[in-house]
Amino acid sequence: MSLPATIEYVNGKVILLDQTRLPLEKVFLEIPDAQTMWEAIKVLRVRGAPAIGGAAAFGLWLGVRKIGDAATRSEFLEQLQTVRDYLATSRPTAVNLFWALDRVNTAAKNSNLQTAGELKALVLEEALAIQREDVEMCRAIGEHGANELEQILPAGSSILTHCNAGALATMGLGTALAPVYVALERGRAIHVFADETRPLLQGARITAWELHEAGVPVTLITDNMAATVMRGPSINSSDGLKVGAVIVGTDRVAANGDFANKIGTYGVALLARAHGIPFYVAAPSSTIDLNTPNGEEIEIELRDREEVTSFGARVTAPEGIQVFNPAFDVTPGNLVTGFITERGVIRAPYLETLAGF
Ligand code: MRU
Repeated sequence: MSLPATIEYVNGKVILLDQTRLPLEKVFLEIPDAQTMWEAIKVLRVRGAPAIGGAAAFGLWLGVRKIGDAATRSEFLEQLQTVRDYLATSRPTAVNLFWALDRVNTAAKNSNLQTAGELKALVLEEALAIQREDVEMCRAIGEHGANELEQILPAGSSILTHCNAGALATMGLGTALAPVYVALERGRAIHVFADETRPLLQGARITAWELHEAGVPVTLITDNMAATVMRGPSINSSDGLKVGAVIVGTDRVAANGDFANKIGTYGVALLARAHGIPFYVAAPSSTIDLNTPNGEEIEIELRDREEVTSFGARVTAPEGIQVFNPAFDVTPGNLVTGFITERGVIRAPYLETLAGF
């Protein structure tokens, strides 16, 4: 199975796969400083909640690595805080961004290290630990998710996913797609319907690409085809394949089980409920935000109008038209069959089960 690395740290260099160039080109970029990392997160060269967290952690290191070794502890911590606050402005919705920035910042503050040289090494070590742990969490999500699919997914049926919560959204196997990869390792090839995911086509450009590269059977559909595909093969709509489960990722899970994910996820959840299809959300613990009581409190990123008024380079809407472009929506927890986490599948009542997580 060949899965691309989103972020690599090699010989003192931080390298990103530029996801804006997929699927036409596989371009790797060296990120020299925190400003370039901020831009890479903002324009989605690196995207997906866990990968954004990892990128931000390495961005912190890039922002402090040139501080002279002779600088004092307080000078270092002040600069670290400034870079932390700056990177935190890149995107608002994925809690992993803030989780990673705060984890690194707090580790430095809580240490007894006195020299900038030692503190820099600690920041890098923490970023590398976040990356290593993400790999492990994705693997565990994949194992638990594959076990669940073995129980509930009828032989020969498909899953449907929205946006990209695969390897390219993380630093490991992915979240929503990890069960599919683990099932493949176990000898079961699960067919995936990938929603195209307007406006930026993460489903078409990224999910379809990574599944295809990994040898997973995948069928790309536009977002408005999901209802027809879920209704089933009787109308000859989907190569005879029935959707047995939906699995998506998430950018933030609130304490009551409401969660934010790519715009369109809420509609997919409603469709799954209408068709009696189990709807799962795959998420590492770094995406569960018990400080946010419910979905209404999740800040939803609004993005540029051009993403909606054009399709790639081609303008597709009248000049000056009003546009609404939220990057994410919130799905109520009551539509979720279970959260597939690295510690197992969490089921309702979420206010209780997530609190004990
Ligand atoms: O705008 P994006 O591409 O960062 O949105 C990504 C998603 O919505 C993913 O589904 C989410 O981050 C989960 S990633 C494991």
